[in-house]
Amino acid sequence: MRTQVGIIGAGPAGLMLSHLLYLQGIESIVIENRTREEIEGTIRAGVLEQGTVDLMNAAGVGERMMREGQFHHGIELRFNGNGHRINMYELTGGKQVTVYAQHEIIKDLTAARLHNGGQIYFGVGDVSLHDLDTNSPKIRFRPDKDGELHEISCNFITGCDGFHGPSRPMIPANIRTEFQKKYSFCWLGILTQAPSSAPELVYANHDRGFALLSTRSPEIQRLYLQVDPKDDIANWSDDRIWTELHARLETNNGFNLIEGPIIQKNIVSMRSFVVSPMQYGRLFLAGDAAHIVPPTGAKGMNLALADVQVLARGLQAYYSSGKTVELERYTEKCLRRIWKAERFSWYMTSMLHRDHQHTPFERAIQLAELDYVTSSRAAGASLAENYTGLPMDL
Ligand code: FAD
Ligand code: DHB
Repeated sequence: MRTQVGIIGAGPAGLMLSHLLYLQGIESIVIENRTREEIEGTIRAGVLEQGTVDLMNAAGVGERMMREGQFHHGIELRFNGNGHRINMYELTGGKQVTVYAQHEIIKDLTAARLHNGGQIYFGVGDVSLHDLDTNSPKIRFRPDKDGELHEISCNFITGCDGFHGPSRPMIPANIRTEFQKKYSFCWLGILTQAPSSAPELVYANHDRGFALLSTRSPEIQRLYLQVDPKDDIANWSDDRIWTELHARLETNNGFNLIEGPIIQKNIVSMRSFVVSPMQYGRLFLAGDAAHIVPPTGAKGMNLALADVQVLARGLQAYYSSGKTVELERYTEKCLRRIWKAERFSWYMTSMLHRDHQHTPFERAIQLAELDYVTSSRAAGASLAENYTGLPMDL
């Protein structure tokens, strides 16, 4: 088999890249080791920056998002029993965020690719990358997990295979720098069948730990609790989850958290990670394959989609005029934006979580930061600018 761009991974990065290349008349093949049902059913991100919404619309895949998504002009930061609204719309001169689940984006992009004749191999096995420093890099894989090995000969390979995929380790260790920070907490996430308890997202810093109230639709809500990294989901009965959510989200003026049946629960770990460079020979990394942020700033999927926009432009320049300068600048262009999102995600995480290693001094500083960001227009504007998304070239 031959193609112009071989794409490993059918997450938001891989599928969007394949779609953008299709719109530019560039061929690609997507290789994914999970089934279509699995990728369309995995619950992850929910908050889209304005730039992500604009990209979905410009690429012609935003119709359902515009119909079913929820548009939020602000968020609430809650601490010491009081809620404080950050009016992002006003502070940014008209930017907002859209709540629309990642797996719905996956469904929209998969449907668009298949409708347009795109080739996606789901449920493959034994994916490996070869000849990356030649003009004809190759992907080998088994379309049926225990069937024959197939080979795709490509002009370029893009590693859109998430944090644990095989692409990043193919950048030789002697030219690869990895920056990493681990956190001393995780998130326990639930989906519940209940009406929403608040009109916008609520990020709560409480003595018992962080809690987040988010949404998916008028009927389904998404909530998170800070838990210990050694904790096990088996320790968290539905009753215990609700008791903790009530305690952490309570306010001095009687906030009412509406309960419902819990239809999904899991624990996700938190880390900050960046690899540099994001390119080696004819291999380019995009999305979680190259960087991870803790979820507090809601940046991971947005960053993944920003990377592939830069990459699609570079590939377009290459195929239309043979110019490689844009591709050569890929790492530099992406990392400028990535490091700012890393900073913001680390900042939100540090400000909102209860760290039991904190001294009383550090806890007081954390509460002073929350007080500052909710009472100073300049500080609120900075948070709003980052949360709704920095411009593509910043
Ligand atoms: P992935 O989505 O991880 O996709 C990679 C794909 O590659 C997967 O489908 C995987 O199966 C496949 N793959 C892996 N190995 C192989 C292999 N060997 N062969 C073939 N395929 C392979 N981001 C936001 O922007 N906003 C949010 O509100 C937000 N909230 C989050 C909440 C939670 C609880 C979590 C966990 C994450 C959140 N994120 C958020 C982050 C976001 O989900 C990720 O950043 C996003 O999925 C990255 O997309 P990706 O395409 O780079 O990688
Ligand atoms: C959601 C996830 C986040 O990481 C966040 O900061 C806000 C909302 C969500 O899944 O809805």
